[in-house]
Amino acid sequence: MKFSELVTRVAGDGADAWRTHYAAQAAQERGEDVIILSIGDPPLSTPQPVVERAVEALRAGDTHYTEARGRVALRQAIATLHEHRSGQRVTPDEVILACGAQNALLVAALCLSGDGDEVLTFDPLYPTYPATLEASGARLVRVPLRSANRFRPDIADLESAISPRSRALFFATPGNPSGIIFTADELARIGELARRHDLWVVVDEVYAGLAPEGRVPSLAEAFPERVVTIGSLSKTHAMCGWRVGWMIGPKILMDHAENLLICMLYGLPGFVQEAALTALQDTVEAERRVREYCGDRVRLMHTLLQGTPGIDLLVPEAGMFMLVDVRGTGLGSDGFTEQLFREQGVAVMDGGAFGEETRGFVRISFANDEALITEGCRRIRQFCEGLAAVRSR
Ligand SMILES: Cc1ncc(COP(=O)(O)O)c(C=O)c1O
Repeated sequence: MKFSELVTRVAGDGADAWRTHYAAQAAQERGEDVIILSIGDPPLSTPQPVVERAVEALRAGDTHYTEARGRVALRQAIATLHEHRSGQRVTPDEVILACGAQNALLVAALCLSGDGDEVLTFDPLYPTYPATLEASGARLVRVPLRSANRFRPDIADLESAISPRSRALFFATPGNPSGIIFTADELARIGELARRHDLWVVVDEVYAGLAPEGRVPSLAEAFPERVVTIGSLSKTHAMCGWRVGWMIGPKILMDHAENLLICMLYGLPGFVQEAALTALQDTVEAERRVREYCGDRVRLMHTLLQGTPGIDLLVPEAGMFMLVDVRGTGLGSDGFTEQLFREQGVAVMDGGAFGEETRGFVRISFANDEALITEGCRRIRQFCEGLAAVRSR
């Protein structure tokens, strides 16, 4: 039997990236002694009032079809949060609900590009990006965020990657895996390039609430006609599994997105939307909780790993991950990841999963229990000391 070309486009190396993580999960389910530091899903529970609201709405029978765009009150709450974060005032008509930021990214990609087009992004990138952005038939063009430049954008590199086929630039700030926050100046120069070459700029801000003050510099107010902002409750409210995300941009794009979302989602469950509204009513406290949780743990991880032979730590500006340069250990990041898991039962992500620029790095999540981080770091240190002893023989 034959399949569409799409099945090839969505089966990229993104899927391989998770190999060690899935092996670790399977080992954990078998009761083995493993420590999973590979994903950004902290063991924090959803705020209790949010859970209560969902249960209440379920009991009240909020189990019917809902508007494809999402309920107005929820879109208004998202618009208010967006104005606080970016300064851009939008109406609910410029907001649409999706099944997590991941779903919103795919909707944006499908609405903004197609066969024969090019979509720009930065390397390193979040591993779902290649398949998500190429699902439309567009070709992905990766602009390096060089490790030698601590993963900061070089606008000349971006400019040289733009061609007449370029349609859009997608990137995350704070970045994953880099944890860097694009500065207002970097963004202004990106915005100017986008205006000159008539590009869409799709900014993934799922970690924005974890940045200092709960916001990052934004282009949305300066370039409302071409900037699309993507967000979700996953990271900021510890609500990954609720799958509440959104896209904010010009109304005409939202109209197209609605048509697509009718094909692929047909409305988020009403009780989930009611819970999301409750969550957004207490964003300041929710974000503070996760921000402090991550802040305490990044400091702990830094203290525990500092001085470990063969590795160099890149402390993030925000987010849930630390990039660690393992080139000094004598292993490639793929070998480091596999051997660390095999010998010490610690799962981290091979930086190669995020692009060429992070080959030689591993990404370690600190969004975890302190005891697990402490033991995970002890094992990583032991592993690196063992490698150093072999090197010095
Ligand atoms: C940069 C980035 N974008 C999007 C997502 C997906 O977020 P969501 O759970 O809202 O779909 C993630 C999840 O880790 C991410 O790191």
